[in-house]
Amino acid sequence: MATLDKIVALCKRRGFVYQSAEIYGGLNGVYDFGPLGTLLKQNIRASWIKSMMNMADNIVMLEGALLGPYEVWKASGHIDNFNDPMVDCTNCKHRYRTDEIDLQKPCPHCGIIAWTEPRQFNMMFKTQLGAASDQASTAYLRPETAQAIYINFKNVLSTTRVKIPFGIAQIGKAFRNEITPKQFLFRMREFEQMEMEWFCKPEESNDWFERWAQARKEFYQAIGITPERIRLRSHAPDELAHYSQACIDVEYDFPFGWKELEGIAHRGNFDLSQHTKHSGKDLGVYDEETKESYIPHVVECSVGVDRLFLTTLFDAYTEDTVEDEERVVLKLSPVLAPVKAAFMPLTKKLSDQAHAIYSTIRARGIMVQFDESGSIGKRYRRQDEIGTPFCFTYDFDSETTGTVTVRHRDTTFQERINIDHINTFLTEKLSL
Ligand code: GAP
Repeated sequence: MATLDKIVALCKRRGFVYQSAEIYGGLNGVYDFGPLGTLLKQNIRASWIKSMMNMADNIVMLEGALLGPYEVWKASGHIDNFNDPMVDCTNCKHRYRTDEIDLQKPCPHCGIIAWTEPRQFNMMFKTQLGAASDQASTAYLRPETAQAIYINFKNVLSTTRVKIPFGIAQIGKAFRNEITPKQFLFRMREFEQMEMEWFCKPEESNDWFERWAQARKEFYQAIGITPERIRLRSHAPDELAHYSQACIDVEYDFPFGWKELEGIAHRGNFDLSQHTKHSGKDLGVYDEETKESYIPHVVECSVGVDRLFLTTLFDAYTEDTVEDEERVVLKLSPVLAPVKAAFMPLTKKLSDQAHAIYSTIRARGIMVQFDESGSIGKRYRRQDEIGTPFCFTYDFDSETTGTVTVRHRDTTFQERINIDHINTFLTEKLSL
């Protein structure tokens, strides 16, 4: 039922996502997140961190720089290999990735066959540090967060108490000059990644690879994604990126087909070996048992925050009919919902009492809204559309019974609960 157009319209209408620099005509493939989108993103990040910490007690976090010098990207292989083949239409100047079009057929934009020869296009954004413009001052905006983890591997090992096997996790922006950004948040030029690099002994790496793939699939179920719309798919050898020995994608059944949501890659010792070679610093470790040095292997779990954001919206978007009225409802997991509950007085005469309860819950750090305008039905619809799982209504009975009604978003079922129990009720429902 959810189409891309409906999701884009809802995101704009309710303040989840805006086109970046919209008042100047917009910047293609770049988006700003509005008040509700910011909250949803925060909840996505928090649930990812929690799932990582639950899976293993020796995962530490890192926040690397967005800019990296030429040497890092030369060593990682991005300077030489991070290319997309592209062609231009010489008639209308439209540019395409060669895998998106058939060069035997006319340009989908102008209907003429006038292609340039295919050529490689490096997707990194290049910039200069300072006033000089030589290779030493060249820097790149990172196209993935992972490299900051590899180049800090020894720093983390020597400044914390972690021992192999352990993980370093990072959430942060990445930048790719995509030739054709598309499908809204699916393929962007500026986006955010959540990556965890798991360092382990070579002989244990295949086992860890399988375990992480299963764990990551379970994460999506834990945050409420429909299990039938998630699958694991192993890469064929000719699909593998330059750094990986094996890869399993977590795919989601988007309206535009099954597509990658997350990649779990067995990167072998590619990255640490490359950085050892290029930096001249030994990134190997010493095994106390075997009395030998070795370069750890890496299993990587990498997912885009924005792509997961889009996935949760597609998965949650529902249209149904309640009391003969059509509604749009976002059936988001309470853990992800941007607003956890709304507090409503039945009439404005009861506003003070309802507001006092709302203030107490808000002071506990739970994101809640107070809504007293419009009919109660209209208020429910407003909250349904942004995915608020619970609406508490203070009515005239509340005055004498010390209770409020709580309405459940998905079923619209209502029950009365004691005002003193609201905090416990929410705390239970909001834990992963
Ligand atoms: N470090 C490995 C890596 O970056 P990737 O498959 O290129 O691997 C990992 O990216 C994840 O990042 C993807 O599964 C996707 O969720 C997200 N991602 C990649 N490119 C993206 C883009 N242009 N826009 C939004 N998300 C993107």
